[in-house]
Amino acid sequence: AEAWKVLAAGGRALDAVEKGVQVPEGDPLETSVGYGGLPDRDGRVTLDSCIMDEAANCGAVACLEHIMHPISVARRVMEKTPHVLLVGDGALQFALAQGFKKENLLTAASEKAWREWLKKAEYKPIANIENHDTIGMVALDQQQNMSGACTTSGMAYKIHGRVGDSPIIGAGLFVDNEIGAATSTGVGEEVIRICGSHLVVELMRQGNSPQEACELAVKRIVKNQPKKSREMQIGFLALSKNGAVGAYALQKGFTYALQTPEIKNQLFEAKSYYA
Ligand code: GLY
Repeated sequence: AEAWKVLAAGGRALDAVEKGVQVPEGDPLETSVGYGGLPDRDGRVTLDSCIMDEAANCGAVACLEHIMHPISVARRVMEKTPHVLLVGDGALQFALAQGFKKENLLTAASEKAWREWLKKAEYKPIANIENHDTIGMVALDQQQNMSGACTTSGMAYKIHGRVGDSPIIGAGLFVDNEIGAATSTGVGEEVIRICGSHLVVELMRQGNSPQEACELAVKRIVKNQPKKSREMQIGFLALSKNGAVGAYALQKGFTYALQTPEIKNQLFEAKSYYA
């Protein structure tokens, strides 16, 4: 809804996706993104985000702590530095120099869940099979320009320093203004292994619809990990330059929101490989 306000007013897709993903980043009840995100096994909330525009400009931060809106830091990396990706302390130092406020992102509820987890401290890297663990957003504006954003607190109770697919351009997000845009959610390691979002866009370039491209990418993960793929969730979303939409996941229950001039911010359930 926040992204649509920008698009409906004739604004840039880049501004729309930044505004859109800031909502779950700032929501303390959303435990897989930004403020309130579940911490790593050391109790630290570490955030991964990236953003990409219509001219292949991109910026990203990984393992960033204490900043409410990592997507906006990623945008500053894109706009104010010659680099694409800043990580850890360097990303925090940059954010503070840019005027972002240092905050505690670990809510009482997330701390309680982490302390409960510590009792057994069993690490099962199974991303939320019921739904997903990241927000990825892609948009096409009235000037026919595309942009995308992807942001997450990553897998709960990960090893400190672990980075998933979400801040990796080509893995968690990819935009090619001539072809389309794609983003992913789920077990980041498997998405990185296939350069997932880049793969989806390249499959569209070869003539596949966004739906076919998402399905082919998920099938490649199944081919790589026939056994493990039954126990984890991965989903792709894609939008083509002509406004066609695709969505596909490994498991049932992957929902996504779509808004167009005809469809008012509606939730849809993606088709899945496993029933
Ligand atoms: N897809 C989010 C992550 O693996 O961290």
